Amino acid sequence: MTASTPTPLTSDDDWWRSAVVYQVYVRSFADSNGDGVGDLQGIRERLPYLRDLGVDALWLTPFYISPMVDGGYDVADYRDVDPMFGTLTDFDSMITDAHALGLRIIVDIVPNHTSSAHPWFVAALAAAPGSPERARYLFAEGRGGHGELPPNDWESIFGGPAWTRVPDGQWYLHLFDPAQPDLNWRHPEVRAEFEGVLRFWLDRGVDGFRIDVAHGMIKAEGLPDVGFNSMTGGRRQSELLGKGRLPYFDQDEVHEIYRAWRPILDSYPGGRMAVAEAWAETPQRLARYIGPDELHQAFSFDFLDATWSADSFRKVIDTALAEATIVGAPTTWVLSNHDKQRHVTRYGDGEVGLRRARAASLLMLALPGCAYLYQGEELGLPEVLDLPDELRQDPSFLRTGESRDGCRVPIPWSGELAPYGFGPAGSELSWLPAPATWAALSVAAQAGTPGSTLELYRAALRARRAHPALARDADGVTWLETTGPGVLAFRRTGGGAELTCVVNLSDAPVQIDGYGQPVVASAELTGQGTGHVLPVDAAAWFERR
Ligand code: NOJ
Repeated sequence: MTASTPTPLTSDDDWWRSAVVYQVYVRSFADSNGDGVGDLQGIRERLPYLRDLGVDALWLTPFYISPMVDGGYDVADYRDVDPMFGTLTDFDSMITDAHALGLRIIVDIVPNHTSSAHPWFVAALAAAPGSPERARYLFAEGRGGHGELPPNDWESIFGGPAWTRVPDGQWYLHLFDPAQPDLNWRHPEVRAEFEGVLRFWLDRGVDGFRIDVAHGMIKAEGLPDVGFNSMTGGRRQSELLGKGRLPYFDQDEVHEIYRAWRPILDSYPGGRMAVAEAWAETPQRLARYIGPDELHQAFSFDFLDATWSADSFRKVIDTALAEATIVGAPTTWVLSNHDKQRHVTRYGDGEVGLRRARAASLLMLALPGCAYLYQGEELGLPEVLDLPDELRQDPSFLRTGESRDGCRVPIPWSGELAPYGFGPAGSELSWLPAPATWAALSVAAQAGTPGSTLELYRAALRARRAHPALARDADGVTWLETTGPGVLAFRRTGGGAELTCVVNLSDAPVQIDGYGQPVVASAELTGQGTGHVLPVDAAAWFERR
């Protein structure tokens, strides 16, 4: 192996309990060679920016060999880098540099399905029904007089049937695109293969894994019908994600897989961790993925889904904190990622959306636990809603009309003209076009500009690192009921200091007295003497030491 020796950063095995992790959507972060696509070398060149931003770790979306039908979540070789993104040597250089700067690296692992170009699936298609090659996937006979109907009523998350028929008449399951066949996780070779993949990247020094579709690997025995789907005029099955039970998600047996993975992670030094992208019916079922014998974290998508109201946020925060306490794991907050409309736009878009997004980010960063940021949120980027249809690449777009491309537009770094320094000097290419309005949102435009979103994030991350009341061993959340309806206020204490976060989700400015001095605010505070006025759609942290 030519990999760099893993560099233990610090001897802090529990780093993930309070980390701020920055999600890099590799294709859209920074393009080092001018082909219009982000790459590993581009990330490497921008590591100092991320260190200065003040994050602790990066999560890199898949950069493995892939036909890129689903942005790399269709993996053809789990142990190599797609030439579009660079080489394994680039990966080694990038992780070495990241570690030297004190940044940890989490990589994505995609175990629910492979690409249809994966050698296993190519072999399965070439082999006969009932063959060992087919046994690694979920092939089944169809229903109807001649097997002409799919084996059951399951619907792809991307729309349409979750089954595709092959020329010899059998069908195979794909919960996502037909180019993403689901693996059979009851097959020992599948389990052994992924344990090997984990070790491959752990040996190369990665600090953790983000597990794609972590709730999906085991399907209910007998592949029972759901009972409705949108192909026959009913609701889409995916509407039950996070709200109900489906025979292909969150089956109890999936936990055995993680109980086998945990000792592997624990056998490496330095606190190697895993975070689940899991959707479960209730926060209680979600919490079953985390704990000392399974995974370290599971994203709290309820937080991301909270609406702009004090009640909505308070409810999901309380529930997530309670569940995390029971299982002894940190809460895992997230407001945006590469699958969801950016939170600026979710909260109303334009100026209002940006104000609220900035406030929500301050709320998130004051909470105990780990927070995940999505690239570009530190610039206040909105969703790009008007991409021309012919440029959209999300496979769900053709099947459902819904597209996640608008949150995947390349990052604006500098300059007046698109793609705003995404590539090397003079490069005009970017795989998706950035809007003309993004010149003002670029890193260069915001760096050093008082009041910019970038400076807000930098200040908040600096304070989060330094403030004893936000430290990992600080006390949890104490809600303060004194500020009135529509206003969230909570206190954290630690190291003899006290920090109060106030978020004004009401429709009137709110007077703040007695919480001490402002540390950071998402909008300008007014007021005189010891009191302050927090405007509508704003948040601020106050401290007393
Ligand atoms: C979740 C990933 O975040 C998403 O981008 C992908 O399309 C699906 N899993 C399928 O892998």
